[in-house]
Amino acid sequence: MERLYPRLPVPITGYGATVIDTGPQRRQLTPLEPVMEAIESAEVLDAPGKALGKKIREIVPRGPVKDALSGTWLGHAVHPMLTDVVIGSFASASLLDLLAPDADGVASQRLIALGLAAYLPTAAAGANDWADTEVVDDTIRRAGVVHASGNAIAATLYFASLRARRRGARGRGAVLGFAGMSVLMAGGYLGGHLSLNKGVGPAQTVFDPGPTDWTPAADAAQLKEGQPVRVVVDDTPVLLLRRGERTFAIHDRCSHRGCSLSEGEVEGEEIVCACHGSRFDLRNGAVRGGPATSAQPSFQVRVEEGRLEVRRLQPA
Ligand code: FES
Repeated sequence: MERLYPRLPVPITGYGATVIDTGPQRRQLTPLEPVMEAIESAEVLDAPGKALGKKIREIVPRGPVKDALSGTWLGHAVHPMLTDVVIGSFASASLLDLLAPDADGVASQRLIALGLAAYLPTAAAGANDWADTEVVDDTIRRAGVVHASGNAIAATLYFASLRARRRGARGRGAVLGFAGMSVLMAGGYLGGHLSLNKGVGPAQTVFDPGPTDWTPAADAAQLKEGQPVRVVVDDTPVLLLRRGERTFAIHDRCSHRGCSLSEGEVEGEEIVCACHGSRFDLRNGAVRGGPATSAQPSFQVRVEEGRLEVRRLQPA
C-alpha cells in the first residue's frame, strides 16, 4: 500500500533558482501501518476512552499508590517489567502444549495461573501510565483502549483455558490458549507501539540532556528572586532559578510526560510539575515525588561577566 502526499510546490521560474518537481511523493507503508492508522483515527473510541481515563485518574490520584504503580520507587516504569511475566507465562504454557503434547500438562496449568495472577497488577500499572497521557493525545487514547481490550480478551481466553484443563479437557484448553496467545501478541504489538512510536514512558529528556561544556544561558540580571525562568541552551530547555546567592539549573522538560517545569510551583528547594505533580530537587534534579521515575538532568552554574553559563552535572 502506498500513501500519496501532496505535490511539491510548483517551481517559480525567473528567480535564478532551479526547483525540480518530482511529482506526487509516495512512501511504501509498512504492513501494519494501515491497521494502526485505522485504530488511531477511530473517533468512536474517544467517549469510552475519555470516561475510562477520567475514572482511572479519580481512582488513582496523586500519592503513594500512583507512585507505586508508576515505578517511582524503582526508578523505572513498572508496567513493561510486569508484562514480561504475563506474556512470558502465557507464551510458555502454549509452547509447552505445542512442544510437549504428551506431558501431563501440570506445568502449563501452573504457568497460566502465574500469568493470570500477574495480569491485574500489570493492567493497573499500564492503565495508570496511559491515563496520564491520553488527555493530550487522541491517538494514544484510542490505541490504549484497543491495547487494554485485547489484553483483557487474551486473559479471559487463558482463564477459560485453565478451567478447561482442570476439567480434564486439555485439548480444548490448548486451543483456547493458542487463541489467547494470538490476541496477546496483537495487544503486545500495540503496547510496543505506544512506547516506542508514541513515546509513552521513556524519560522525556533522553535525547537532549544538555551541554557538557560551559555554555552561555542567560544574563544574570534576567533572573528574579524565586521565579523560575525557562531558557534554551544549545537546543536544550533549561529552568533557571535564583535563590539568594545561589542559582539552580535543571532540565526544563519534565522527564515524566514532558511538561515545562518552569510553569510549576517552587516549594523550598523543589519544583513541583504543574501537570501530574512530580517533584524534583532543584539542586541535583533528583525525583522527590512521583509519578516521574527519572531524574532531571541538572547543571552547574557560573557567572562570567554578568552572564550565566551552565554545564551538565554528572551523577556522583
Ligand atoms: S509531565 Fe507528568 S509530572 Fe511532569
